[in-house]
Amino acid sequence: MEQLNTEVVLSGVRFRNPVIPASGTFGFGQEFTRYYDLNLLGGISFKGTTIEPRFGNPTPRIAECQAGMLNSVGLQNPGAEHVRDVELPALRKIFNGPLIANISGFSEEDYVRAVEILTGAEQVALLEINISCPNVRHGGMAFGTSPEAAAAITRAVKKVATKPVYMKLSPNVTDITAIAKACEDAGADGLSLINTLLGMRIDVRRRRPVLANKMGGYSGPGIFPVALRMVYQVTGAVRIPVIGMGGVSTARDVIEMMMAGARAVQVGAANLVDPLACRSIVEALPEEMASLGIHALSEIERVS
Ligand code: SIN
Repeated sequence: MEQLNTEVVLSGVRFRNPVIPASGTFGFGQEFTRYYDLNLLGGISFKGTTIEPRFGNPTPRIAECQAGMLNSVGLQNPGAEHVRDVELPALRKIFNGPLIANISGFSEEDYVRAVEILTGAEQVALLEINISCPNVRHGGMAFGTSPEAAAAITRAVKKVATKPVYMKLSPNVTDITAIAKACEDAGADGLSLINTLLGMRIDVRRRRPVLANKMGGYSGPGIFPVALRMVYQVTGAVRIPVIGMGGVSTARDVIEMMMAGARAVQVGAANLVDPLACRSIVEALPEEMASLGIHALSEIERVS
């Protein structure tokens, strides 16, 4: 087969392919090493990290749905210092590609402090600032549903970041382009979208919500058309690069997301259904490219 080029570049950072496991679906990579060599991945976005360790929400915090799942994990993580001192050195032994540090917070100061701790880590290539978690009462999505709040977090983080800053946006808004433009105007280097859609299930026999937190974020193949539409709208409204995500589960989905304007793609819920999902997607990319007459992924143009 002809040599095909899967490399993509985001804010000057080279990724060997555009396939990146999404934050919260891949931990810090360790559990997946028993299935495949992580070095075939384009990059890894690691579990959303906050300044303090967090146990997360009460269980049950997962609910299955027909075309995906709900989660209300609540940002369980070991805290920024532990991630820098323990998780990242361990991850370096199993993965030599670029890392995306996914960072969450409950106040502007939280985000700034966590960025200060993680921005200097050598393997961290990009910072992904999560202003879109639907599973926490304060902060999280509250910052990502107001253009002013999104801009304020962007500006605060940009002051201390030494790596490109990508703001991770919520789909739970009327006009995602307004939030995207506010982040761009405030200095964001790029955007990641979409996070999960707020949803709910009820256990009809017990007559109560399935999730202890009542509501959670819906992800999986069912949200792919919604994610694609939002990526298309946002890439039509801003000039900064966009990482597209939401229900991506095949190599063809990756290419479709790139035709909507995404520069790279994250794969989330698919990792929880099949731990080999990202490997399968990476391996299927060349054949999919060949069948569509695509020689280099970086040459894919956004459809008009
Ligand atoms: C969570 O930990 O609750 C999921 C993270 C997110 O949806 O941003």
